Formats: sequence, C-alpha cells, structure tokens
Amino acid sequence: MNILVTGGAGYIGVHTCVVLLEKGHTVIVADNLCNSKADSINKVRQITRKEITFYNIDVTDEQALETIFLQHKIDSVIHFAGLKAVGESVKLPLDYYFNNVVSTLLLAKVCLKHQVNRFIFSSSATVYGNNTVPFVETLDPLPTTNPYGETKAMSERVLTDIARTNPSFSVSLLRYFNPIGAHQSGLIGEDPNGIPNNLMPYITQVAKGKLEKLMVFGNDFFTVDGTGVRDYIHVMDLAEGHVAALDNLTEGVHIYNLGTGQGTSVLQLIEAFEEANGVGIPYEIVDRRPGDIASSYANVLKAKRELGWIAKHNIKAMCRDAWRFEKNIEQLRVR
Ligand SMILES: NC(=O)c1ccc[n+]([C@@H]2O[C@H](COP(=O)([O-])OP(=O)(O)OC[C@H]3O[C@@H](n4cnc5c(N)ncnc54)[C@H](O)[C@@H]3O)[C@@H](O)[C@H]2O)c1
Repeated sequence: MNILVTGGAGYIGVHTCVVLLEKGHTVIVADNLCNSKADSINKVRQITRKEITFYNIDVTDEQALETIFLQHKIDSVIHFAGLKAVGESVKLPLDYYFNNVVSTLLLAKVCLKHQVNRFIFSSSATVYGNNTVPFVETLDPLPTTNPYGETKAMSERVLTDIARTNPSFSVSLLRYFNPIGAHQSGLIGEDPNGIPNNLMPYITQVAKGKLEKLMVFGNDFFTVDGTGVRDYIHVMDLAEGHVAALDNLTEGVHIYNLGTGQGTSVLQLIEAFEEANGVGIPYEIVDRRPGDIASSYANVLKAKRELGWIAKHNIKAMCRDAWRFEKNIEQLRVR
C-alpha cells in the first residue's frame, strides 16, 4: 500500500514508518518539522535500507496536501501530525485547535476528494479525562479536561460524522496511552526540544546528567505509592498497533485503546529504570501539577479481540531501550 504518514518525522511516526517499510509498504511522510528533525527520516532509511519520500509541508496547508495527493496514488493515511503538550495547550489554545483540528478537517477533505477511504487517526488517552480506570472505548461523552484533549475529541467527532455520511470511509481512532522506549538500533527515539514534558525523556536526561534531578509532581494521589500511575507502552508495540489497525480496517469507525493495560507509578518507573540500566535517578517530590490525574490505564481487550494485537515489551525493556537511545543522541547529531 502507498501510505501517507503525516507527522512521520516525529517520535511515534518514525517508529511506525520503520515497521510499515519493513512490512513492504511505500511510505510518504508529510511533516513541517516543528517538533522533529529531517535527519530522523535518514535514520529510518538507515534502519530499513528502504526509500521513503519526505515532504516538508504544513498539513494545515490544503494546497500542499493536494500536491501530494496528485503526485502519489495514496491508499491509506495515518495522521500523526499534531501538537501534543497538555500544559502548552492550556496556554496556547488557539494554536492547538488550529493545528490539530484544522489539519484533520483538511486532510479528511482532501482524502474524500481523492477517494482515499482509509484513515488512521492518532488520538489519546487524554480524551478520557479523569474517568474511572481502566478506561474503556465505549465511554461517551468524552470528559476531556484540557484543550489538547479536546482537539483529539473534536477530531474524533469530525471523522465519525464523515464516516456516517460516506459509507465507504473507514476510520480507526487509536487512543494511545504513554509511549516510551526506542527502536532497538538506538538510532531513533524521543528527543524533545527543551525541558521534556514527558517523564521518560526527563528520566533519561537526569540519568545522563543533563538535568540535575527529576521533579516528581505529587505523592498524595490515591495510588499504590501516592505518585501518578500511567500505562507505559513501548513505542515499537505502538507502531505495530498501527499495522494491525491498517490490516483490519473495515468500513465505519473503530475505536481502540493502545496500551498495555498495566499501570506503573512514577516511583515504580524510576526503580525499573535504575534496575534495568544500573543508573541512579535522583528525584525530589514537589507539588502536583494542576490538571494531573491520579491514574490512567487502558482496558485493552478490544484491540486484542478485533485486531489480534497486544503489547509485548515489559517496562524494563522500555527503560533499557530509552536509555540506549539517550546515550547515543550526541553522536547521532554530529554524524
Ligand atoms: N507521545 C505521546 O505521549 C502521545 C500520546 C497520545 C497521543 N499522541 C499523539 O500522537 C501523535 C504523534 O505524537 P508524537 O509523540 O510522535 O509527537 P511528535 O511531536 O514527536 O510528532 C508529531 C509530528 O507532527 C509534526 N507536526 C505537528 N504539526 C504539524 C503540521 N501542522 N504540519 C506538519 N507536521 C506537523 C511535528 O513536526 C512532529 O514531527 C500526535 O498527534 C500526538 O498528539 C502522542
């Protein structure tokens, strides 16, 4: 299949491109590099020894999207492109709504025009808000608590409504939990700009000495040890989940949680990282961040039943692979 991957230069995107290319698909990436580097596409070429087409475009630019659809016979679209920081979305709601919702609207519009009827969308566990765990796909309405989550819920509704009036339109809405880890080659991984928003890159930067210590936001949640519990999933398992969704895509709208179904607290993740890698992580407990929830983990039965997909890597493998990549980052940059 010819697959257009928007946001394909980003963290989850590059890992998914690797898996798609290894499965024999032709991959066309559209990314404006606002949170990634063009070199990550070279790393995908290096890992797979396959060609990948890259367009440096903004997916809120309809004309630029048109050009790609005229140039290639696209069979399926995977729409990763988006801004993803919850805290930033509270400060910059217009940017988030514009980027994340308008990109989905325009991409869907261009897909319909060119009769591209297979659409995979990157949604998020954030759409479940502060609901009771484990989160199940049937929850409705979605109790989002911040602009980022709302952009995902709105995009889901847009795609659902389009599928209702276009019976041949097939949509998979994938609600990711917390991807961490990296490809085993150590060539690609999560490399955010500035101070990391997510826990694992924060831990790896502390391990490396780039940051002095880890700030643990709150130890008074109603959880196993008081720190926040999340469902961490290896990014390669997540990438495989996209292939399973593509392979099983049928008409209509299908929603899947992509997680492990296991909750891990911040302190448990620190301990696992220390054990897996033999590196100490100094940390300090500080106040909760506004809006953070106690627990988030998935009910994963539907993905297992309908896609035949389950996450395979354990938390130690995730820690080991994340650390391997972090240790490589400077070398990769000078190459
Ligand atoms: N990483 C997570 O924890 C997580 C969890 C749930 C959902 N998601 C969603 O998965 C998707 C991918 O996340 P990621 O972690 O790989 O993020 P990322 O920031 O690494 O990748 C997103 C990519 O999209 C690109 N992009 C953003 N806006 C664009 C635009 N208007 N035009 C073209 N390219 C644009 C960025 O340059 C980046 O390469 C996002 O939609 C995110 O909201 C991520």
